[in-house]
Amino acid sequence: MASIIDGKAIAAQVEAEVAASGAALLRDHGIQAGLAVVLVGEDPASRIYVRRKIAQTRKAGMLSIEHRLPAETSEADLLSLIEALNVDPTVHGILVQLPLPPQIDANRVLDRIDPMKDVDGFHPVNVGRLSTGTGGLIPCTPLGCMMLLDTVISDFRGMKAVVIGKSNIVGKPVAMLLLERECTVTVTHIHTRGLPEIVRGADIVVVAAGCPGLVRGNWVKPDAIVIDVGINRIEGPDGQPTLVGDAAFGELGHARAITPVPGGVGPMTIACLLRNTMDAASRHATVR
Ligand code: GUN
Repeated sequence: MASIIDGKAIAAQVEAEVAASGAALLRDHGIQAGLAVVLVGEDPASRIYVRRKIAQTRKAGMLSIEHRLPAETSEADLLSLIEALNVDPTVHGILVQLPLPPQIDANRVLDRIDPMKDVDGFHPVNVGRLSTGTGGLIPCTPLGCMMLLDTVISDFRGMKAVVIGKSNIVGKPVAMLLLERECTVTVTHIHTRGLPEIVRGADIVVVAAGCPGLVRGNWVKPDAIVIDVGINRIEGPDGQPTLVGDAAFGELGHARAITPVPGGVGPMTIACLLRNTMDAASRHATVR
């Protein structure tokens, strides 16, 4: 039987470590790590994510700074807020929840965040650092995927990894992280021809395609590890809304290990956000 990777428990462990580091930072340097979260508009999923991020930030003993802006906010006003947060010494991490309303160019906004406070790891400087393996802040969901893989793999060298999804938030950065561990990485997406055959060759499958149940049981070889990043809200058999991943969980009993949805990758994203904020605050303490 496949072992189920318990993201909830692993995330709780990471959050406890972050809280302990935060307490030490406050005691030794008088610094309380601070995370500013910016939400523009009323996107229901974004509101839920932001609420969770704020609650976990507080629970870890960090300062949470919230900016909720109306959907009609101009790009210029958002850029002014970013500039103010960049120079605010109580703010060590800045997160602008995506997507942004259509009148705002998300790339222009992300480019304006101080790379040292870019706890999402989306600034081009951090993207470049990741691709050259030279440090920087790493995007939270890919970092969480690697932490989950670390619980079942001790040596990644030479393993065949297939990533399904090519987003800047998950697919591309997780491919870079797997490559850094010396996996042989194939990046695919929903237009890839012969996808099932490619996935059948994988020792590690990371799926972030936004397609419920895309990865079927007969796509996955025995002993493969499946990391399911998908969070899809669909109608369940009882007619009630239910959350499912991008892999057909019930068909993957022959795999070596799999992540559940919910309770797999999801909790790791917030834990890694807190860890990145703590790293940014600790760096601030050492470079002052
Ligand atoms: N929207 C969906 N995922 C993310 C994320 O990881 N960070 C931000 N800022 N917005 C998102």
